[in-house]
Amino acid sequence: MSRKKIALIGAGQIGGTLAHLAGLKELGDIVLFDIADGVPQGKGLDIAESAPVDGFDAKYQGASDYAAIKDADVIIVTAGVPRKPGMSRDDLVGINLKVMESVGQGIKTYAPNAFVICITNPLDAMVWALQKFSGLAPEKIVGMAGVLDSARFRHFLAEAMDVSVKDVSAFVLGGHGDDMVPLVRYSGVAGIPLPDLVKMGWLSQDKLDAMVERTRKGGGEIVALLKTGSAFYAPAASAIAMAESYLKDKKRLLPAAAHLSGQYGIDGLFIGVPIVIGAKGVERIVEVDLNADEQAMFDKSIASVEGLIAACKQINPSLA
Ligand code: APR
Repeated sequence: MSRKKIALIGAGQIGGTLAHLAGLKELGDIVLFDIADGVPQGKGLDIAESAPVDGFDAKYQGASDYAAIKDADVIIVTAGVPRKPGMSRDDLVGINLKVMESVGQGIKTYAPNAFVICITNPLDAMVWALQKFSGLAPEKIVGMAGVLDSARFRHFLAEAMDVSVKDVSAFVLGGHGDDMVPLVRYSGVAGIPLPDLVKMGWLSQDKLDAMVERTRKGGGEIVALLKTGSAFYAPAASAIAMAESYLKDKKRLLPAAAHLSGQYGIDGLFIGVPIVIGAKGVERIVEVDLNADEQAMFDKSIASVEGLIAACKQINPSLA
């Protein structure tokens, strides 16, 4: 059996980390594609030279021609620009929409059957546009945000309660913006929901509320610290978990931006919901029950995503 092929479009901070993690986990052979001359080749060679030390087998190829992604099994897209301090993810729409157009063409021409994970921001709008530009089947393209947002929430919770991150589960619904919806009722430690843990005195309500808010602004917190770019370790780890679930048919239930066709009363948008990822791509979209407060927060998040889609259609009328 030959190795799987993983194409990384964008070989910047996240792309380089993805390439390293995919090798360490022996997910397949890796193609790094970027418009920056020498960068994908240099990063590929550097990581390949680490393989003898860590003892993993994976071939690396750097490329600046889309032909190199031919017949990739998985494609992870980070091409575009990240935000700088003071910018919101939405400020990136104009530049990154153009990038999605060229990436979509490349995928359409060379790897129309790949499972595609988009990371480029503003996430929910860029994955929507990339599906349109690439013509991919809706179940073969997702946006990575929920795994990352949930991981941030899990980290804060584990630290506050002094328990292993492994036993903390959490999920976040909605768009990848500051009005995302961390679902407190569906998050907890080893099956004990957060509201019960508050009653048990493990966590005060105030502290929990502050962590929900910190999760919503988690990306901005890293941007403010780094000053020259945005988060890359946790975003890369999150996308790798999704790729692994597809490649190994693990059928993990993960939050991700998926194409909705009526679920949650939404039609034609990509937005963060729990999904099952297996060999067929998005195998199930899971509809959880929302109370009135959660629904109101979700509606607000949906409205933000709709606003971004409208902006995309205005910039590029072919998307309308
Ligand atoms: N085609 C291919 N690659 C491109 C293109 C393009 N049209 N335009 C830009 N790139 C490449 C850049 O050359 C750069 O190497 O995309 C890479 C982006 O890398 P970084 O600037 O390091 O950004 P990164 O931190 O990896 O984030 C990428 O993910 O989280 C989001 O908001 C973030 O949209 C940003 C994306």
